[in-house]
This record gives sequence, C-alpha cells and structure tokens, in this order.
Amino acid sequence: MSKRRRVIIGVGAGIAAYKATNVVRALSKSGFDVWVIPTPAALEMVGALTWQALSGNPVYTQVNEPGTGVGHIELARDADLIAVVPATANVLARIAHGLANDMLTNVVLAADCPLLLAPAMHTNMWNNPATQENVKLLKRRGVHFIGPDLGELSSGDVGLGRLVSEDRIVEQILSLLSPKPWQGKNVLVSAGGTREPLDPVRFLGNRSSGIFGVQIARHFGLQGANVTLLAANIEPQVLAALPNSVRVLPTPTATEIYNAATKYLPNMQVVVMAAAVADYKPAEFQTQKIKKTPEKGEFSLTLCPTVDILAYLAEHKQPGQIVTGFAAETGSWETVLDLGKEKARRKGADILFINKVGQTAGFGDTATQVSAVDQLGNEIGQFRGEKSEIAPQIVSLIGQHSQ
Ligand code: CTP
Repeated sequence: MSKRRRVIIGVGAGIAAYKATNVVRALSKSGFDVWVIPTPAALEMVGALTWQALSGNPVYTQVNEPGTGVGHIELARDADLIAVVPATANVLARIAHGLANDMLTNVVLAADCPLLLAPAMHTNMWNNPATQENVKLLKRRGVHFIGPDLGELSSGDVGLGRLVSEDRIVEQILSLLSPKPWQGKNVLVSAGGTREPLDPVRFLGNRSSGIFGVQIARHFGLQGANVTLLAANIEPQVLAALPNSVRVLPTPTATEIYNAATKYLPNMQVVVMAAAVADYKPAEFQTQKIKKTPEKGEFSLTLCPTVDILAYLAEHKQPGQIVTGFAAETGSWETVLDLGKEKARRKGADILFINKVGQTAGFGDTATQVSAVDQLGNEIGQFRGEKSEIAPQIVSLIGQHSQ
C-alpha cells in the first residue's frame, strides 16, 4: 500500500481558527495523513481534543513538551505540504524572519515542502507596511498565499482581511499536491455564450452558462497549464471556480472571440472552443433603441454570418498544436451523434466533444453525456456525469492526444 501523503495544518490564533476544522476534516476524508499544529495561543480558540479527533493524530504546540512523541524535524521531513490557516500577522512575521519559538514555526523552518499561508487579520494589520513587507519577502521565497478576502471581519468592520473560504483553501492544497502534467503549456479556452448587440439595450444570445468551459479551464490550470479563458458573458459565481492562475479575458461577442483567438493561437499548445458562438449577428447595430412600430405588424431583422472560429483555427494551426471544440446538437442520442460526427468531419478539429442540448438538457449545472470524436468522426471517448466530473476526463483525453 502506498504511504499516505502528509499535510500539516498550522493554526494561528485568530477568530477564524475554527474554520480550519473544515479544512482538516476535508483533507482527512480525502485520505491525507493530517497533523494539526496550533500555536499555543490558538489552543484558546479551538482545543487540542477537537484537532485530535478530526485529524486522528496527536497535537503538539511546543517542541520538547512532555509527551511529544514526534520531533519537529521528523514532522517536517515527512510533510508533503504545510498550510497555515489562519495565518495571523504574528505567525506571518515569525515565519518571514525565521523565528522558531513554538512547534509550528520550528516545523516550518525545518521543512522543505511547499508552504501555503491563508492570512486572516484586521484590514489595518494587513495593510500595515510591516505585514506587507513580510508578505513580499515570503512571496519572493516561493511561499504560496491564498487571500485574504474582502468582507466582514470579526471586529464588525468590512475590509480586506477575511479568511478565504475553506473550500478554496482545500482546493489550493489539492492543487499544490497534484501532479502537473500541463506545466509550462499554454492553453486557450473559450466559454459562455456570445451576445450580439442589436441596439444599446438588446442582443441576440443563447443559453450557455459557461460552466463546462470554466471547469475545463479550471482543470488545465490545476494541472499547471498557463490558461487564458475567453469568457463570453459568464456569471461571476461560475468564474469563481477558477484558480487564480487562469487569466480571464471578457469576449462578449463572436467578433471579440475571433479577434482574441486568432491573436493568441500562435502561442498556444491547446485550444478548446467550448463557447456557444453566434452563427449570425445583426447586419447593422442600431445606435438608438429600436422603437415599436405597431402599424407595421411583423418585424424582420437582417442577419449576417459570423466567422466559424473553430474551423478557422483548425485550418490555421501549426503542427503540434491541438484544436478542439464542442458540438451542441438536439434530438435523440443517435441523431446527436450523427450530426456531431458530420460536424467533426466538416470543422477539422482534432477532437470534437459532442453534447446533447435542449430545453431540459445540456445547459447549466446539469449532468450530461459527451462523446468525443476525432477529425474523421471516429469515437475516441465517452463520458457521463456532472460537468465538473467530465471536465478532468476531457483534459486527460486531450493530454493523451497531444503525446
Ligand atoms: N463555433 C465557432 N464559431 C462559430 C460558431 C461555432 O468557433 N461562429 C464553434 C463552437 O465554439 C463549437 C463548435 O464550433 O466548438 C460547434 O458549435 P455548434 O454551435 O455546435 O455548431 P455550429 O458550427 O454553430 O453549427 P450549427 O449551429 O449548425 O449546429
């Protein structure tokens, strides 16, 4: 049996210390060997028994305290990652200056694994030049930071200094521990649905939420890729799933996606066109709001075609680049598959992910079914489940294709 990976959660003496219990619980559940090292003052916030129960390991706050079964050197040597949640101004300063006056700071000093700090403190303390200098120093040394967030603080004030959500901390820990097969690779993902303006208040749009493309961008990012996301009208709560490393460029229309995609194509190893791009846009943009004219009865719009961006990118890609896209089709699964295969042959993308859509299928945060086909329409993969579950499988299929 392979050895469980060890994560040390340091806990600083902040009111947010209780939130670290959720981080410890999530990591223990995921099978990590979690050790909690609170600072002595942090034990006033959450007691040793709680940490022991959640982690399944003993809790020490001082080096050489009676009953310490494991030394700080041993703890440090076997650690795969140390995260301090919350990192108070005091802990941050002590780590920055190499002080070793409790178990946590001794272990941090002795370890050579990645270190993640999740600061939480009052805005004034965070903004203080002393803290900011310490943060800069630590970042220069390769220490990872997550947060702080803007929000309500324990003092009742609102400002920067709130601990980021436990989910995001866990995700960052998992990301730091996960293999990075895409390290150094550039990936362009488009997501969302375009909106083609008719006049200053109206547009022609579609129901795409952007969830699938965002999840794909997220997994490329978690696996080390430099990801650029061309975001067409995606809600902030959907974008919130992205790791900080993903660069998000708003591209609300087909023309803006085309301009950005053609500009970035030469530097990309992989392109994923997951956006629902308008095939037609209003021939003319009316600068004033179009008025109702009841006497005329019917109202017609003249539309003109947009560029098929995916087909263009597939045609202009260089050897070694992989261009992939999605096919959104309606009808029975057999029809969807036939239409998708025909589209794959027509567009020339390396992989086309065929997805059934409709009034009750395909859009939003729903389970779905996807079939992957190559340029000739041959099926090379099938996936079923939540978009967040299928996305990493799509990323690994693209990875297999790029070898
Ligand atoms: N696409 C594109 N540029 C367009 C339209 C679509 O790059 N102007 C891309 C989409 O991002 C997707 C793929 O082409 O990756 C297929 O999109 P889809 O809407 O399924 O097909 P269409 O090409 O629009 O054809 P149709 O609407 O007739 O099914």
